[in-house]
Amino acid sequence: MKNFSKRLPRLGTENAFSVIGKAKKFEEEVLKPEGKHLVYLQIGEPGFDTPTNITEAGIKALKEGATHYTPTPGIPELRSAVAKKTGGYTGVAYEAEDVVVVSGGKPIIFYTINALIDAGDEVIIFNPSYPIYESVTEYLGGKVVPIHLREENDFNPDIGELAKSITSKTKLIVVNTPENPTGGVFTEENVRAIAKLAIENDLWVLADEIYNEMVHEGEHFSIASIPGMAERTVILNGCSKTYAMTGWRIGWGVTKNKEMAAALEQFSCNDISCPAAMTQYAALEAITGPQDEVRKMLAEYRKRRDLLVKLVNEVPGMKCHSPKGAFYLMVNVRELLDKLGITAAELCDRIMKEANVLILPGTVFGVFGDDFVRFSYVSTEENIIEGMGRIKKFVESL
Ligand SMILES: Cc1ncc(COP(=O)(O)O)c(C=O)c1O
Repeated sequence: MKNFSKRLPRLGTENAFSVIGKAKKFEEEVLKPEGKHLVYLQIGEPGFDTPTNITEAGIKALKEGATHYTPTPGIPELRSAVAKKTGGYTGVAYEAEDVVVVSGGKPIIFYTINALIDAGDEVIIFNPSYPIYESVTEYLGGKVVPIHLREENDFNPDIGELAKSITSKTKLIVVNTPENPTGGVFTEENVRAIAKLAIENDLWVLADEIYNEMVHEGEHFSIASIPGMAERTVILNGCSKTYAMTGWRIGWGVTKNKEMAAALEQFSCNDISCPAAMTQYAALEAITGPQDEVRKMLAEYRKRRDLLVKLVNEVPGMKCHSPKGAFYLMVNVRELLDKLGITAAELCDRIMKEANVLILPGTVFGVFGDDFVRFSYVSTEENIIEGMGRIKKFVESL
């Protein structure tokens, strides 16, 4: 057999998916026979089903014949609706042709980085971060330049450090706010400072705004809203998180740069031809229909966040700030790790096997995640109470 490509081993992954596979196996083979189960406090998707009006719109579309290819960048009605929605929160006059609808938000990461990065080019990625930016950059032979998001700065970047890290090879900065995994929301001041550096150094920005409607305190401020940025920014957004539609796979890229929009469309044509037809109609209903379910889900997440933050801080050796956005919580476990002489990954493994609760090590999100474990608060209050009770008992027994 001839070899696989040289770049294949450089492709990373989203370990959250493999961790869940292993955990399910452990639950089936070890816990279930003993009448036990795992409490899942790591989940990166909404803890609600898709609102009924959206599901009904998808079913209706299917019954009415949305079973064919659509134009590659999406049906015109949806592109217009996305343009209007994005214009609404950025103040940029986006039009339908500035929007490329794809299957989930993730392809926009792959397409944007592919469109820009040659071997040796540098990509600035705040860290800890969603792992796919790094995976795709390394796959293409690009160099990842991580900028530490520190807990004491509320997981906001140090602009001085960012400025120093820019070189003649820097091409792209990835700005994900609200951030996965920290729940940090970048301040307007910091977003403006990043934009200033991007303009001064002629850089592109990938603005991952998939959690932009999940802000508990303060407001999301889009980098694209700053004059001079919409032409050098690709906004990534979609239905997965806001509308609890992870399984429908609808996301989009929005940019005022015509060549970039064409490149995104061309990648999509090579990759998927078009997003699924009936899910585009469901997405249209999600965006243009009533928004009260979104508000209800957000209020519920906020309650769960407050509960989880309180319970975590009652566990000896665990501490966290209250995150301002998304639905994640980074918990500092350094004290516990030092006491036990283990890594965050080993701690999560022990918590799974001995306390039967699943959480993720911060290292899954990059080099600066090693003091942390990540929880999510999408689970029910009942599950959060049960899971944290188990973790507290486990830690107290050490
Ligand atoms: C920061 C971030 N960007 C993008 C995505 C991908 O979203 P989608 O499921 O729509 O592909 C996720 C999903 O977890 C995410 O956390």
